[in-house]
Amino acid sequence: MKGTESTMALLLCLGLSLLAFVHSSNVKNCHHGCHCEVESFGLFDSFSLTRVDCRGLGPGTTMPIPIPLDTSHLDLSSNAMGPLTDTMLSGPGYTTLVSLDLSSNLITTITANVLSKLRYLETLDLSHNNLQSLSLGCFASLPLAEVDLSHNSFQDFDMDVFATKVNGEPVSVDLSHNKLVSVSTTLRGRELHIQTLNLSANRLLSVPTLAGLPLRYLNLDGNPITQIKEGAFAQLKDLVYLSISGLQELQEIMPNSFNGLQSLQVLDLSNNPKLKTFSPAVFSGLDSLLELNFSGSGVASLPNNMLTHLPSIKSITLGRSIQCWRTQKQGQFHRQLGQVQHNEVLSCNVEGVVL
Ligand SMILES: *[C@@H]1O[C@H](CO)[C@@H](O)[C@H](O)[C@H]1NC(C)=O
Ligand SMILES: *[C@@H]1O[C@H](CO)[C@@H](O)[C@H](O)[C@H]1NC(C)=O
Repeated sequence: MKGTESTMALLLCLGLSLLAFVHSSNVKNCHHGCHCEVESFGLFDSFSLTRVDCRGLGPGTTMPIPIPLDTSHLDLSSNAMGPLTDTMLSGPGYTTLVSLDLSSNLITTITANVLSKLRYLETLDLSHNNLQSLSLGCFASLPLAEVDLSHNSFQDFDMDVFATKVNGEPVSVDLSHNKLVSVSTTLRGRELHIQTLNLSANRLLSVPTLAGLPLRYLNLDGNPITQIKEGAFAQLKDLVYLSISGLQELQEIMPNSFNGLQSLQVLDLSNNPKLKTFSPAVFSGLDSLLELNFSGSGVASLPNNMLTHLPSIKSITLGRSIQCWRTQKQGQFHRQLGQVQHNEVLSCNVEGVVL
């Protein structure tokens, strides 16, 4: 069923792209510094998308910039907009936006209502600005699916800003390259639909409490975390991919740290040079884990009994290119049980790694 659906979707896309026409000339109301394009799709041009590119218009530009009535994609990046105030994104054309790029604009603040009329907005890029905080209701009426807040100056971040009044679609949030020391969620995720969260390259000293978020992907790379404590990821039961890589200060992962991650399939612990040893009980609860990566970390050998904690594991990577797999060893006939016992062991492409 899935396969048929995706094949049909592919055929549909192919069909649409064959039938797409781009008319870049004579778009009505295209501001002189912008580039406007209308893409029509379908047999009788029944669908159209207007893309407006107003990047780097230069000094003396006043906002809002007039845009064509049915604009769906607007790029306003690199315009030194400064503080974003209520009138800067208003006027005909703005209410139909599906995607908006406000990156590299020296934005320091956003008023609570400046985005509130963009009620079809799914993709918002606010990266490379100087934001330190957001007013709590500023995204509340938007059907956001993707928000890029990377390369800003956030220190404390309250995820509740993503609580919406509109029907909750899964949201992907990029908060990498900020100055985050804390991330909080007081709603306990009840109305938050964040599935992808990127917290890499921040100043987190410990794993933040994200209990209740329906996360499927979490990235904590490059934070100054020294220790991962028991239950650090408790309640992230939907998480599939966890990346904790490039932590220069990480020395210790305590037993049961990953308890509760019952759906986790990939755990990236690579490039953690100070991480040298761990007890197999660190991995208890990781019932679905398929891949574990210790490449470039201080871990040089593996206890063979770690397999008892990792029932689904397929591959473990160590050092530069040491690869280990789960294999079955023919056991001996067990006299009391009257059957042949199969033992599962770890075997690697280099000897002496498994102890
Ligand atoms: C998370 O952010 C880092 C650093 O910006 C980037 O390398 C990585 O690709 C991001 N992950 C995702 C899923 O976007
Ligand atoms: C393990 O991590 C290293 C370094 O990040 C990466 O190059 C490698 O591809 C990863 N291996 C697997 C099997 O994912």
